[in-house]
Amino acid sequence: MSYNNYLNCIIYKYEMKLKSVYICSSCGSRSPKWLGKCNSCGEWNTFVEESEPSSGTKRKSIKEFNVPIQRLSEIQTGTNYRNKTGISEFDRVLGGGIVPGSLVLIGGDPGIGKSTLLLQMCAGIESLNALYITGEESAEQIKLRASRIKNINTDLEIMCETCIEYIDSAIKASHNNLIVVDSIQSVYSERVESTPGSVLQVRECASLLMQTAKKTKKPIFIVGHVTKEGVIAGPKVLEHTVDTVLQFEGEKTYSYRILRAVKNRYGSTNEIGIFEMTDVGLQEVKNPSEIFLAARHLSEPGVAIAAAMEGARPLLIEVQALVAPSGYAVPQRSATGFDYRRLQMLVAVLEKRLGIAFRQNDIFINIAGGITLNDTSMDLALAAAMVSSLKDMPIDPETAIIGEVGLTGEIRPVGNIEQRISEAEKLGFKRILIPAGNFKKINKQYKIKLEPLERISLALAKLF
Ligand code: TYD
Ligand code: MG
Repeated sequence: MSYNNYLNCIIYKYEMKLKSVYICSSCGSRSPKWLGKCNSCGEWNTFVEESEPSSGTKRKSIKEFNVPIQRLSEIQTGTNYRNKTGISEFDRVLGGGIVPGSLVLIGGDPGIGKSTLLLQMCAGIESLNALYITGEESAEQIKLRASRIKNINTDLEIMCETCIEYIDSAIKASHNNLIVVDSIQSVYSERVESTPGSVLQVRECASLLMQTAKKTKKPIFIVGHVTKEGVIAGPKVLEHTVDTVLQFEGEKTYSYRILRAVKNRYGSTNEIGIFEMTDVGLQEVKNPSEIFLAARHLSEPGVAIAAAMEGARPLLIEVQALVAPSGYAVPQRSATGFDYRRLQMLVAVLEKRLGIAFRQNDIFINIAGGITLNDTSMDLALAAAMVSSLKDMPIDPETAIIGEVGLTGEIRPVGNIEQRISEAEKLGFKRILIPAGNFKKINKQYKIKLEPLERISLALAKLF
């Protein structure tokens, strides 16, 4: 090899090297070299090597742009600002319907029902003409899924494609004004060399769709799978790009699914939608408390009813505890659907403030229905369920319990108290334990008997 060739080779390698970059597949942060732990999100083993897209585009001069500057008062939003999907649980989570030109990401574990939900939305929507683009399944598979769903509109248009440039021009050219891309991990851009599903591909495809959504004013829904492994990019990377991030969650073994807004530029993130996966597709659950309490175990020790909030809605739910003698030196503590550390804190409060010893016992906590709740107002119900199981004494099944427990054993006030009480009253409960701090501010009359309480010891004395 001549000396010149050798030099060229080194320069070539050097240039190539500059183009490769390491990206965290969990949060999308970049690093010039591989790192075991991501400094920005703290995840381990998430860095993957990517090569940057070629930046061959020429910069435009300012004269070539023609971007108007408008006053806020001059901007028109149109009268039919939002389009209803026809699924009211879905509309509520979106903030009242679909906003034109918005890019919505629906994330969730594989098999949770994202494709089913979007297919139902596309087929059911009347005000928009939907195009369902899939890169994951064949047209026959879509047809098979659709045939399971009750009352499906067979005029729905389907396209099977994975190249984002093609998809993009199809969206621009088509007469459809609602687009679904299922999923973002299955499509690829020709401009990026890495494999479909990699961080750069996902980001490139999403930003192209974002531009198209804004330019054409067609709302676009994209599906994103959540995986923690480094290979496939999780929707975290996309959260900054899109307008709305919805999370579809639920235990696969249970049929209930919760749609939650994680980020919403056009609405509140407090709203949730509850669905049930049935053999005829997803059904809306309008009265969640009734369903979660339907299979209630009346008068069993270890069961208490909490009045929690799920988003902006009250939800009465059965909290179960099993306190059993432990066979181990270190007893087990396990919580399903509830924060494990909070459970440990409650056990410590009961032991220290009330002298109830759990040291010889295993404790298992379960929130019925397979849902996860992070509402501290369930503390008191949980503590009551544990004591009920330990003493083998059931709690009156017509009593609901609300209250956050503090470290000194005090019962602290919670938010949305009136909504919670009304829900309990509506469902036929006769008595409700509430924090004394809340009681002072209530000026409505209820049929249900309110029991204001200041300390956990008083609450337990009332219950047992
Ligand atoms: P799917 O929408 O394919 O999930 P995702 O797109 O999130 O991966 O849903 C798949 C699951 O839903 C599958 O396990 C079958 C079930 N399912 C029903 O139980 N009933 C139905 O009517 C449909 C269409 C699916
Ligand atoms: Mg799917």
